[in-house]
Amino acid sequence: MAFGSRAVHAGNSVDRGSGAIRTPIVMANSYALPDDPSNVSWSGTDIPLYTRNSGANQIALQDKLAALEEAEDAVVLASGVAALHAVFFTYLSTGDHIVVADVTYEATWRLFTELLPQKYGIEATFVDASDPGAVRAAMRPTTTLVHVEAIANPTTKVTDIAAVADIAHAGGALLSVDSTFTPPPLYRPIADGADLVIHSLTKYYNGHGDAMGGAVVGRRELISPIKSNAMVDVGGVISPFNAWLISRGAITLPLRLARHLESARQVAEFLEADERVAYVAYPGLPSHPQHDVAVRQFGDRGFGAMMAFAVRGDPDTQNRFVANLRMITSAVSLGHDESLIVHVGTDGPRVAAYPETFRTWGHLRFSIGLEDPSDIIADLRGALDESIS
Ligand SMILES: Cc1ncc(COP(=O)(O)O)c(C=O)c1O
Repeated sequence: MAFGSRAVHAGNSVDRGSGAIRTPIVMANSYALPDDPSNVSWSGTDIPLYTRNSGANQIALQDKLAALEEAEDAVVLASGVAALHAVFFTYLSTGDHIVVADVTYEATWRLFTELLPQKYGIEATFVDASDPGAVRAAMRPTTTLVHVEAIANPTTKVTDIAAVADIAHAGGALLSVDSTFTPPPLYRPIADGADLVIHSLTKYYNGHGDAMGGAVVGRRELISPIKSNAMVDVGGVISPFNAWLISRGAITLPLRLARHLESARQVAEFLEADERVAYVAYPGLPSHPQHDVAVRQFGDRGFGAMMAFAVRGDPDTQNRFVANLRMITSAVSLGHDESLIVHVGTDGPRVAAYPETFRTWGHLRFSIGLEDPSDIIADLRGALDESIS
């Protein structure tokens, strides 16, 4: 089946109890045990047993994700961060070394600057992952994992996943890719050699800003330990209701994504052409430093719907601009139906790895939503007119 058909049908089945043609929401903590439960593994995830081991809605969502990512297996968890932690907890041990991109989602950065080194003695080297040579140079005999984002949050730096996968594998390490900004059918990092692909399902997969979840997809032999270690024994399980909501959202992922991508292209071009805008970081623009890599990697499918920009002015001007937006909402998160914008300043140790433009002007992280693109552009134009003389 083509992607759009899999999005509709994968993971859905006729409910044998009621005859309903949709997987119902199963809000049960426990499932009936077999007649002789004495051999059941209480850490097992193969049969519905206890919702922290596996449940009907979790399994349905995992089946849909595995089908959409063309992966052997998937595990879904309570949030994107739970999925990231599940990978690191399962595949890193004391004394291991990880090569990690210098621009990532905040929680990843904090895990590797503070929590995992201090608590568990895991050593991280941060590299400019858009430079495969820097990744190669950072590899050590103790490197067990390389972790990057396909398009990095928030600078939109693009990593050449195929090149980095070759480097990780040559060094005997696994490659994990956070592909939250680039869900399928836009991109499938597994096809380029990634071993573990992580998504915050909270974002495009769910798409409606009303449920949190996270996923890791990959080969069965890599996903199974994540299920038993990080889900059953650490407990980052997703609620059945959220799994059901995300399964429903994922049905329209290809339709929504097509709209997100086309609107993002129009918005990026509009912003870049306006001289009141200091800079625009969007991989689809020829001015983006990794535009060529993005074209090669994502083909003609698009470049995501996340961008960062700043208006010409001080932090007060950025705030005034945001305050003058009438439709676009100032709030965190991304990949929702509504467009979301966040003003992020220039302070803090993280920004040291950001481009000069970000450090000079700060940035407005912008998630282009599903509104009509003409309304998004009109809102931006109106706010520019009202906040910059
Ligand atoms: C790239 C990326 N990874 C992971 C996460 C964490 O996801 P969640 O908020 O679902 O825990 C986010 C959240 O913004 C993100 O942008």
